[in-house]
Amino acid sequence: MRPDHYDSFAASYATENESSLMNAYYERPAMLALAGDVSGRSVLDAGCGSGALSAELQARGAVVTSFDGSPGMVELARERLGPDAVVDVADLTKPLPYADAQFDDAIASLVLHYFEDWTTPLAELRRVLKPGGRLLVSVNHPIIYRLLKPTANYFETVPHTEEYAFNGQPAELTYWHRPLTAMSDAFAEAGFTVSSFTEPPFSTDTPPELLAENLRDKTHFLCFIFFVLSAPSPA
Ligand SMILES: C[S@@+](CC[C@H](N)C(=O)[O-])C[C@H]1O[C@@H](n2cnc3c(N)ncnc32)[C@H](O)[C@@H]1O
Repeated sequence: MRPDHYDSFAASYATENESSLMNAYYERPAMLALAGDVSGRSVLDAGCGSGALSAELQARGAVVTSFDGSPGMVELARERLGPDAVVDVADLTKPLPYADAQFDDAIASLVLHYFEDWTTPLAELRRVLKPGGRLLVSVNHPIIYRLLKPTANYFETVPHTEEYAFNGQPAELTYWHRPLTAMSDAFAEAGFTVSSFTEPPFSTDTPPELLAENLRDKTHFLCFIFFVLSAPSPA
C-alpha cells in the first residue's frame, strides 16, 4: 500500500474514526491507558491519521510531534491540532525527518500492519527515541487472519485485502498478516525489549448500540494487540 493510500478516503475515515467502536471506544482509550502520565514528555505519533490521539496526548500535557504518509490525513490533523502543532508528511518505511534521541515516547497506532518489512520502521523509531524510551504499538491481532481464513497458514507473513465502508464511503485496505513470533523477532532485531503485550478491554463508556448483542455482557473482544517496547538504556 502506498503511504498516501488514505488520501482518497481521508475525510470519511476521519469521521468514522471519531466515534467508532474500534477507534474511539477501544484502540484509543487502550493506547492512552498504556501511555499513562505523559505530561511534559516528548511524544511522536507515527501514522497519526487525523490527529485524534495526538490531540488527547496534547490535552494530557505531552509535547507532541505527529506525522502521516497521507497528505490528506495530515491536513485534517493540522486543522484539529492548530498552527503551533508539528504535523509532518513522512513515510514510516523511510528515514524519518527527526533527530536521533529526540523523543521520550513513540506511538504507532494501527500502522505497522500495512508493512511487509518492519526493519526500517522499527529501526527509525528506535533511532529517534531516547535511550530508555518507550515505543507503544497496536496492530491487528494475528489470530484475526486465521479466524477470517480458517484454512490459511498462520505462520506465513502474507498480504490480505479487506473492504470497508468508512462513513459510507467504500475503501480497500491491504494488511500484512504475520505470526506473533515474527512480531517478537522484529522487535528483538530492532533492539527493543517487550515490556508488555496486552489484549485490553473495550471502554466501559461504549454506547451499547455500538456493541453487537453478544458483546453487551462482555468486557473484551479480539481485534488488536498492543505492545509496550523499551529502547535500551545506557549501560
Ligand atoms: C488505521 S489509520 C490509524 C490512524 C491513527 N494512528 C489512529 O489510530 O487513529 C492508519 C494510518 O497510517 C497511515 N500510514 C499508512 N502507511 C503509512 C506510511 N508508510 N507512513 C506513514 N503513515 C502511513 C495512514 O495514512 C493512516 O493515517
